[in-house]
Amino acid sequence: MAPAVEIRGLSYTYPDGCEALRETDLSVAVGESLGLMGPNGAGKSTLLLHLNGVLPAEGRVLIQGLPVTDRNLGEIRRLVGMVFQDPDDQLFMPRLLDDVAFGPLNLGWDEQTVCERSRQALELVGLSAQAERPPHHLSLGQKKRAALATVLVMEPEILVLDEATSGLDPRGRREIIQFLGGLTCTKIIATHDVDLVQDLCDRVAVMDEGRIVALGAAEDILTDAELLFAHGLEQPRNVSRRS
Ligand SMILES: Nc1ncnc2c1ncn2[C@@H]1O[C@H](COP(=O)(O)OP(=O)(O)O)[C@@H](O)[C@H]1O
Ligand SMILES: [Mg+2]
Repeated sequence: MAPAVEIRGLSYTYPDGCEALRETDLSVAVGESLGLMGPNGAGKSTLLLHLNGVLPAEGRVLIQGLPVTDRNLGEIRRLVGMVFQDPDDQLFMPRLLDDVAFGPLNLGWDEQTVCERSRQALELVGLSAQAERPPHHLSLGQKKRAALATVLVMEPEILVLDEATSGLDPRGRREIIQFLGGLTCTKIIATHDVDLVQDLCDRVAVMDEGRIVALGAAEDILTDAELLFAHGLEQPRNVSRRS
C-alpha cells in the first residue's frame, strides 16, 4: 500500500526570497500519527501547505500515491483535510452549520446528505447546540473544534492540523487532544504542545531552518533533551507517561 504521504526533495522559496523548505524528505504511513515540531519559522506550516497543493511544489509530494498536481487537486483535497492554525481562516459564513456544509456542497453532494452529515460533524465535535450561531461568537476552543468539523465532514483519509491546541486553555486543550485520540485516520500535527505529542503521536519529525533534522519514535525524540533544546523545544513534564 502506498504511504499516506510521501515527500521527496521538497524545497520552497516564498516570492520575497525566504527559503522556507530545503530538500525535505518525509514518508508517513497510513494510520500513523506524526508530530511535526520545531521552533517558529522552522517551515512546519509551509510543509503542511504543500500537502493539499495550497503552495506549488518544487519536488515531489504524493498523497496515497497520487501526485499533488493541479490536475489531481480535487481528489487531493478530498483525501487531505487541512485544519489551519487560525480558525478564522476556515470559518466565514454567518451561520456555523453553513461553514460545515460549505466543503461538501462544493464537492457536489446533495443537500439532504450535506445537511445530515454537517449536523453529525458538529455533534462529533460537541457543537450541536451552536449549529445556528455565527462562528465569530464562539470561543477559541469552540472555533478550533468548529474548524475541525468543517474538515471532518468530508471524511478525509489524512487529517492535517497546524498548531491544533495553540492559544487554548487547559480544558480546551484536553478536549482537542482527547477528541483527536479517538480518530483513526492518518494524522499530521504541527505543534509545540509536547503533551499532545506524547499522548497522540507515534513518530516525531523535528524541523529547523527548512529541514527535517530528526525523525524517530515519539518516545525517543521526547526523551532526547539535548536534541529538543538545540531546536528551541522542551521536554514534556513526564516523559514516561505514554508507556
Ligand atoms: N507568506 C510568506 N511570505 C514570506 N515568507 C514566509 C511566508 N510565510 C512564512 N514565511 C517564512 O518561511 C519560513 C517558514 O515559516 P513557517 O512555515 O510559517 O514556519 P513555522 O510554521 O515552523 O513557524 C519563515 O522564515 C517565515 O518567515
Ligand atoms: Mg506555523
